[in-house]
Amino acid sequence: MAEVPSFSLGGKIAFVTGGASGIGVGIATVLAEAGATVVIADRNEEAARAVVKSLKEAGHSAGSVQVSLEDEASIVRACAGLISNFGTPWLLVNNAGIQDRELLLEATAAEWDRMNAVNGRGPLLLTRELGRAMVKKGEGGRIVNIATAGLRGSVVKGLASYVASKGALLGLSQISAFELAEYGITVNTVLPGAVATAGAMGAKGPPPDGPARRPLPLGRICEPRDIGAAVYFFATPAARYITNQVIAVDAGFSVT
Ligand SMILES: NC(=O)c1ccc[n+]([C@@H]2O[C@H](COP(=O)([O-])OP(=O)(O)OC[C@H]3O[C@@H](n4cnc5c(N)ncnc54)[C@H](O)[C@@H]3O)[C@@H](O)[C@H]2O)c1
Repeated sequence: MAEVPSFSLGGKIAFVTGGASGIGVGIATVLAEAGATVVIADRNEEAARAVVKSLKEAGHSAGSVQVSLEDEASIVRACAGLISNFGTPWLLVNNAGIQDRELLLEATAAEWDRMNAVNGRGPLLLTRELGRAMVKKGEGGRIVNIATAGLRGSVVKGLASYVASKGALLGLSQISAFELAEYGITVNTVLPGAVATAGAMGAKGPPPDGPARRPLPLGRICEPRDIGAAVYFFATPAARYITNQVIAVDAGFSVT
């Protein structure tokens, strides 16, 4: 009889960047509920520890490491700490990101560099570090990158550097899927629509004017767990033949 596809993450380690807030908390929670040991990597150590505490109180296995994604040495250190304290992860979720706005005609090189350092280069370096470890372990793995539905159409003004940095992340997904396929590592991308997180609500810049204000067909904006569900699917053993795919979780925004 054919093997029933497995949707369990039992015994697997998941490394979630930006898991101390917003969408990252939703992703970490869904993965923990599916049986994974979730290690949160965030610059905000105190908030990360609070999420770990609540996951543990709910009976899940979790831990945290501090990381500053704009700093290569910090990424290398965080990955080494993850591997020595918890083991090589099955799953890397490149979720952490910054999402401030700056109108195109007022764009600055400094903002472009800051956005791309955190949203593009950080995931590249994490993919390198943990990709090497997954390859060495020889059991395959999963990488899920969190970009934005803004890549499918303009949502609000002021997102030139932000959406461009997420375009870099989407490009990284494609190249990673190609170069890591021979090791049984899949790489997929989730495009979240609007989610009312601290990062989105507190983003600096001009008012968020634009089509994103249209009513959503599914009736409400997304919740962090909705994004977590898509990440979970890509992370499962059952999704072993799915790579280089992109899924929008946007409450139907793309059909309006
Ligand atoms: N909220 C939305 O509407 C929305 C929509 C589309 C895409 N996204 C993307 O989803 C991801 C999560 O967004 P969110 O809304 O939950 O944001 P958030 O600001 O609420 O959470 C982001 C987390 O990442 C961490 N972080 C940020 N910069 C970091 C750095 N340099 N080093 C280490 N950690 C860092 C923060 O401390 C925070 O805990 C981001 O990549 C964002 O671009 C969000």
